[in-house]
Order: sequence, then structure tokens, then C-alpha cells
Amino acid sequence: MEPVLTTDIHEIFMSRALELARQGRGNVSPNPLVGCVLVKEGEIIGEGYHEEFGGAHAEVNALRNSRQDPVDATAYINLEPCCFMGKTPPCTDTLIQNGIAEVYIGMLDPNPEVNGKGVEALKKANIIVHVGVGEEDAWNLNRPFEKWITTKIPFVTAKAAQTPAGFMGVDSDHSVWLTGEVSGRHTHQLRAESDAILIGRQTAVIDDPALTVRHVPGENPTRVILDTNRTLPLTLNMFHDRKAKNIVFCSENRFDRNKTHFCDYIPVPEAENGLSIPHIVRKLGEKNVTSLLVEGGQEVLQSFLDADCIDRMVIYTAANELEKAELKNPLIIPENWVITIEDFLGEDRVIIAEKGVECLQEL
Ligand SMILES: NC(=O)c1ccc[n+]([C@@H]2O[C@H](COP(=O)([O-])OP(=O)(O)OC[C@H]3O[C@@H](n4cnc5c(N)ncnc54)[C@H](OP(=O)(O)O)[C@@H]3O)[C@@H](O)[C@H]2O)c1
Repeated sequence: MEPVLTTDIHEIFMSRALELARQGRGNVSPNPLVGCVLVKEGEIIGEGYHEEFGGAHAEVNALRNSRQDPVDATAYINLEPCCFMGKTPPCTDTLIQNGIAEVYIGMLDPNPEVNGKGVEALKKANIIVHVGVGEEDAWNLNRPFEKWITTKIPFVTAKAAQTPAGFMGVDSDHSVWLTGEVSGRHTHQLRAESDAILIGRQTAVIDDPALTVRHVPGENPTRVILDTNRTLPLTLNMFHDRKAKNIVFCSENRFDRNKTHFCDYIPVPEAENGLSIPHIVRKLGEKNVTSLLVEGGQEVLQSFLDADCIDRMVIYTAANELEKAELKNPLIIPENWVITIEDFLGEDRVIIAEKGVECLQEL
């Protein structure tokens, strides 16, 4: 018997729009990833995506790339088109002016300035609109944007490498490399997808990491260190490699805001166990950081857990145990979180879990 095809044609065109959208990763933040496909008589006549922040939106690029007159075409877009004048004119106007007849949208834009108004504008111009095709994938694609645009706080991913017994190192004063090359590349991909990476003072001193994207293509995120008393040695790599912006959070009890050519020093209040994490994430959100990768060490991960400021955990488990290990990984996936990925990376295992959230559109 012939296999039954369950995916409908609209989902196929939408998944192409999502694939295009992904190509903007690392270049469009704080904007969302958006792709657009134009279809006429069952054939794709134009494709485009939002390529860089401040640049043309996906709809405009798809129209520019169209091989045929787009009049009466159907557009597939993973996110509701914008209807306000921002850095570029409203995409709803562009679709209307180019005679688009029908629009399939993955999800409504959670941005309160748009949220449903884009659909209204299209309908008013007699365009047939369908919302919710490929919605789950559309939602998963833009998690950082969705959180940031509604709360002004970044989507926080906490990452740790551990031994099978759950140790992330020998102790606080020693640097140990636990996982293999494949996990290393996976971490670099996470970095490439993040606007900023954060570590504690001790990790900065002990590991002296570059915190750059090297093993995959991508832009370097902003590097963030928590250093209450500004005692970090200025000999650290990241203070003079000029490969990315640096932010050091310090205590507002002792310091004022200050900017040097190699670092932006931002004071925040102190809490019980160090600098206040809720203040730090808010300050980063104000600086348009939509996605933050917390790379440790142990104390910092514990503080983010205590402040309930983690949205996603990525845990790599190496194949081998470490002798005399004492530095315990505090990241334990809560039972009510959703495991999205469980896989092997070479000899290591990776598990990714997210706090369960409802799709905004359904709220
Ligand atoms: N396996 C892994 O995935 C992994 C990843 C990263 C690091 N490591 C290892 O972890 C070890 C370092 O970890 P660690 O726990 O000792 O130190 P850490 O978390 O890297 O840094 C802690 C320090 O950050 C400063 N800080 C400021 N505000 C804080 C806050 N709210 N919460 C926590 N810290 C805050 C404090 O120093 P001040 O009071 O001076 O500000 C604190 O002592 C190293 O051995 C490193 O190699 C392992």
C-alpha cells in the first residue's frame, strides 16, 4: 500500500519559511528570526529572510527576489507581519501594495505593538489570512525574542559539563576539560546563538577563557563577568583580545557606572550570595540582550537557580569519572521541565531541558 502523506502543502511551504528564517541566526537580535516564501499556482516564486538587524524584513526580501509578478501570490511567513513604522516601513503595507492575495502566518507577533494588529490590517485590505500553520515550530524558533519582547528579560540558558557522577571539576581552583570535541562544537553553536555569555569571577581567573565562537561559523557574543569588587586581573585574555564587547557587573555599594575602551562596568545591588541576579538579567535586557548563555562556574549556576532565572538547561556528561572531584554540578533538571533533546555527542551525552511554557498566543 502507498504510504499516506499527512503533511499538507501549507506546512511544507511554512517549513521552508522557517528554514529561511534560521539563516538570520546570530545577526538579527533583538529582532525575531523571520522567513517568507511567495507561492503562485503551487510554485515558489520568491524567498527571503530577515538577514540583519536594521536591514530589510523577510517579506521585502522575498518580494525583491520574486521571479514573477507577485500579484495574487500567497505568502507564508513564520511570524505575523509588522504593521508599524520602525527602522523599515510596515510589512503589512508592502504585502498589500504588492497585491498579495492570501497570507499564511505561523504565529501572532507577541510584540504588544503588533499582536493581532498586523492580521487586522491585512484583512482590512481583503487579504485572506490564516494563522497557526506550523505554529509549534514557529514558537520554538524565536524563544529568546518571545521572552524578551514581553518581559524585557533575556531567555537564559545555563550550561554545564559534568562527569557521570555529576562533578563539574576537581575544585574551584583548578581548570579541567571534561568533554570531547563534538560537545565543544555544540557549545560553540550555543554561543553563536546567544547575544551574551556570562561567567563568575573565579571561572574567569582559573580558566581565562576566550568565550568566543571558534568551532562553528558565527558572531562572538558579548562577554559578561560577575566581579563584585572589580578585582579581576587586567591581564585576562578577554580584556585585550578585542574580539567581543565585555561587561563586568560589580557592586553598586562601591562603584559608579564606568566605561573603558575594553570594558563596560555596570553596578548592581548585592544580594545574599553575591550580586543580585534579577538586577543583572534586567540590565542585560535593557541592553537588548535577548538570549544569555550562563557558562558557570558552580557558584554562578547556583545563584541563577536560586533566583529562578533559568529557562533552559544544557548538561553534557562525559564518559569518564574524575579522580578526587569535589565541584558538584548544581544543575539538576526539575521533574516538571520538558526534555527537548537527549543525544550522544561523540562519547559524551547531552541533555537539554526547558521550563514548560504555554504558547503566548493561547494565553
Ligand atoms: N564543568 C563546567 O561546565 C565548568 C564551567 C565553568 C567553570 N567550571 C569550573 O568551575 C570552577 C569555578 O567555579 P566557582 O563556583 O568556584 O566560581 P564561579 O561561579 O566561576 O565564580 C564565583 C564568583 O563570582 C562572583 N560572583 C558575584 N556575584 C555572584 C553571584 N550572584 N553568584 C555567584 N558568584 C558571584 C563571586 O566572586 P566575587 O565575590 O569576587 O565577586 C564568586 O566567588 C573552576 O574550577 C572552573 O574551571 C566548570
